Amino acid sequence: MRILTIIPTYNELESLPKTLGRLRSAVPASDVLVADDNSPDGTGELADRIAAEDPQVHVMHRKGKEGLGAAYIAGFKWALERDYDVVVEMDADGSHQPEQLPRLLEAVEQGADLVIGSRWVRGGTVVNWPVYRQAISRTGSTYARLMLGLKIKDMTAGYRAFRRTTLEKLDLDAVESVGYGFQVDLAWRVARMGLKVAEVPVTFVERELGASKMSGNIVVEAMLNVTKWGLSDRWKRVTHRRQR
Ligand code: GDD
Ligand code: MN
Repeated sequence: MRILTIIPTYNELESLPKTLGRLRSAVPASDVLVADDNSPDGTGELADRIAAEDPQVHVMHRKGKEGLGAAYIAGFKWALERDYDVVVEMDADGSHQPEQLPRLLEAVEQGADLVIGSRWVRGGTVVNWPVYRQAISRTGSTYARLMLGLKIKDMTAGYRAFRRTTLEKLDLDAVESVGYGFQVDLAWRVARMGLKVAEVPVTFVERELGASKMSGNIVVEAMLNVTKWGLSDRWKRVTHRRQR
């Protein structure tokens, strides 16, 4: 299995080298693509220096902050142009522990088309999150699950492994969500195609360095999109039934 781990970055100067170091020792087989949105703090240049020393580390320089979703879509295309079999999504800030990546990869080997590193299944947990962040995440996940009629417990999780064929089947250019709703969007697209989604428990550790890029706008975008998708899906089912 050829593995590529994509790490999107925006101002992760302190966190990135630690996460890269941990990833390279936990799963030495995985190549890495840092997708940097021209971070003002110099994360992109730091990534270049690390890449110069390590042929398995690559850097994609994007022109500006265009959102997590856009960075991942560009990274997926980069991976598909090369011969990777599995593509991993991982945050730069250490929240997604590289030491737990083998669990995700194992589930891919066992046949999953998309593996979600889940906080909200038995055995999964969050360390150092204030109650309000837990509430937003749990409520958001539950709302999306009910609205979209899926069984996935952690809909917004950002620690994931995609089988190459899953990315090939997705129409990447049709994905419009730019914020963290992108994660819900992709889970929904994959599940709707009838592909196999597996959740494995992970321990999400809140960042110690730097700041989150999560904002109220991101939550609102995700909620509005989920509502729109859920309602239009129901509407389609109703009108379909009437036609028959
Ligand atoms: N290239 C790029 N562009 N990277 C970005 C952008 C962007 O616009 N916005 C955020 N990132 C990167 C950050 O640098 C980090 O590596 C990762 O995306 C996650 O950002 P955080 O700001 O640390 O996210 P979080 O900890 O608040 O949110 C986590 O939980 C969300 C809700 O469950 C992440 O795991 C999200 O993926 C998840 O949806
Ligand atoms: Mn984070």
